[in-house]
Amino acid sequence: MTRAQFLSAGWEEHNFPPPIYPEFAFVGRSNVGKSSLINLLVGMKNLARTSNSPGKTRLIQHYCVEEKWYFADLPGYGFARVSKGERGRWDRYITRYLVTRKNLLNLFVLLDARLCLQAVDAGFMNWLMARRIPYVVALTKIDKLSRTKRDHRLACLRKELTGPDGLFPAFFPVSSVTGEGKAELLSFMESAGRSRPSVRP
Ligand code: GTP
Ligand code: MG
Repeated sequence: MTRAQFLSAGWEEHNFPPPIYPEFAFVGRSNVGKSSLINLLVGMKNLARTSNSPGKTRLIQHYCVEEKWYFADLPGYGFARVSKGERGRWDRYITRYLVTRKNLLNLFVLLDARLCLQAVDAGFMNWLMARRIPYVVALTKIDKLSRTKRDHRLACLRKELTGPDGLFPAFFPVSSVTGEGKAELLSFMESAGRSRPSVRP
């Protein structure tokens, strides 16, 4: 996949492109690898800006992919150094975006594969479930784990993500360095696009 272009950056609906294509959004703590994952999926090194320092993506960034999908790169949450005002803005605008964006087909919640499930991520996923917003998990930076650690983390994570009903969300180990997980995520997106209508009521 290579035909992708930047469309817009902003907080509110009037900044967003018209909801004519199914949309996938990427969300997670600052620095977890959202922008890098977008670049991996579209096969372009510098479409979305990435950085070593957390808090790089500050607005909702929309990209058009192959004139077929939108990708929305969301600002990270849980970044300790942001002001209270900025955190309030995240809550207000991202919440509104997630609840009202009509063409949002699926959300990718990114978790750093090296870490145990953090309270802020667990809280966010509980909120998504309560609002019935569909999501799957991408486990980023999987290249940084040895085979043994990786197996251990995947087993732990499965436990951590399992709800009282015994169900857990689909999760995909990914690496923007080795390209692991790219084919699986793309095929997940294709099938999500086929199985659900693109615009919710
Ligand atoms: P914010 O926009 O600040 O919220 O961050 P982000 O989630 O968009 O993260 P970004 O893609 O900018 O990546 C943060 C840092 O992690 C960068 O230095 C990336 O090079 C690095 N990184 C991202 N994904 C991977 C990965 O899969 N493997 C490794 N080794 N490094 C990664
Ligand atoms: Mg970013």
